Amino acid sequence: MLSQYCVSLASVQKAHTVINGLIHRTPVLTNSTLDKRAERKLFLKCELFQKTGSFKIRGALNAVSSLSKNRQDGVEVRAVVTHSSGNHGQAVALAAQMQGIPSYVVVPRTAPACKKAAIQEYGGRIVECEPNDQSRMETASRTVVETQGILIHSNQDPLVIAGQGTIGLEILQQVPDVQAVVVPVGGGGMVSGIAIAIKAQRPQVKIYAAEPENADDCYRSKQSGRLTPNAQPPMTLADAVKTSIGAKTWPIIRDLVDDVFTVSEEEIQQATRLMWERAKLVIEPTAGVGVAAVLSRRFRELPGSLRNVCVVLCGGNVDLDSLEWLHGVKVAE
Ligand SMILES: Cc1ncc(COP(=O)(O)O)c(C=O)c1O
Repeated sequence: MLSQYCVSLASVQKAHTVINGLIHRTPVLTNSTLDKRAERKLFLKCELFQKTGSFKIRGALNAVSSLSKNRQDGVEVRAVVTHSSGNHGQAVALAAQMQGIPSYVVVPRTAPACKKAAIQEYGGRIVECEPNDQSRMETASRTVVETQGILIHSNQDPLVIAGQGTIGLEILQQVPDVQAVVVPVGGGGMVSGIAIAIKAQRPQVKIYAAEPENADDCYRSKQSGRLTPNAQPPMTLADAVKTSIGAKTWPIIRDLVDDVFTVSEEEIQQATRLMWERAKLVIEPTAGVGVAAVLSRRFRELPGSLRNVCVVLCGGNVDLDSLEWLHGVKVAE
């Protein structure tokens, strides 16, 4: 039934053997204050503690190491290239460093200095472009040619999607009686991989996507039954999910994601603050989208028999310079 997609349970299991031991098996935590507010038992899959501070290393490492092992023509992979100033850029840089391959990350010249520095710290070489999609794509294509590199897309590459799916394998082991999993959605690589991994083994477990109201392409696509990208670049605090779902992830989301919950900017702020204050978990606002979803009225209206809900806390990369009292404070070397 699941063979029509670009990723299968077997490819997720293979990804797990490739990246196992090289990344962290992140813990699942619980918090009674949150349980009370959500009126359910919540299980927090803490990908904010993952290497590079987000789940993105799973997909990046699977892609980089599978590419370098599987070259049929005997030619070594000379470089990997990506265009992401965010978590995927850092993840590709570290994955390439771990495999001893140079990496080039195309970043808008206006991106915050802290993001460029993080990529460089993981050994990535920054290639600046103008802050628009056309320049990003052109610069990435040119860099691929110049470096004879391979482009690793952040959410439509099947090896990346399979890598993200390993979160689903771990959830089934760590929370055996899980009944639903809530996953923030941007391009849909994470929710697709998790859906493939879980539905193939436990079809009764619900997979819910969570999305900002201001970037609700996944919600609208599910409503209309047609891939419907965001018309404008969205404005949301959850900066990692501004991108729209794509051609590879849409069929999986269409068929295997049970519902999409959208949340307002205020709900994202409140949920993120609640996690910092009560759970002491420094999540980034994009992870707050999933927490806001389970606290939302519509989610609380789901049957009470849906008791055990896992929320993927997908990342913790917060720009600390955005906090007034920490602005400009540098940690001594
Ligand atoms: C922290 C975080 N959460 C969620 C997402 C969305 O993942 P996807 O694009 O695979 O849907 C991203 C993507 O960059 C991310 O960095």
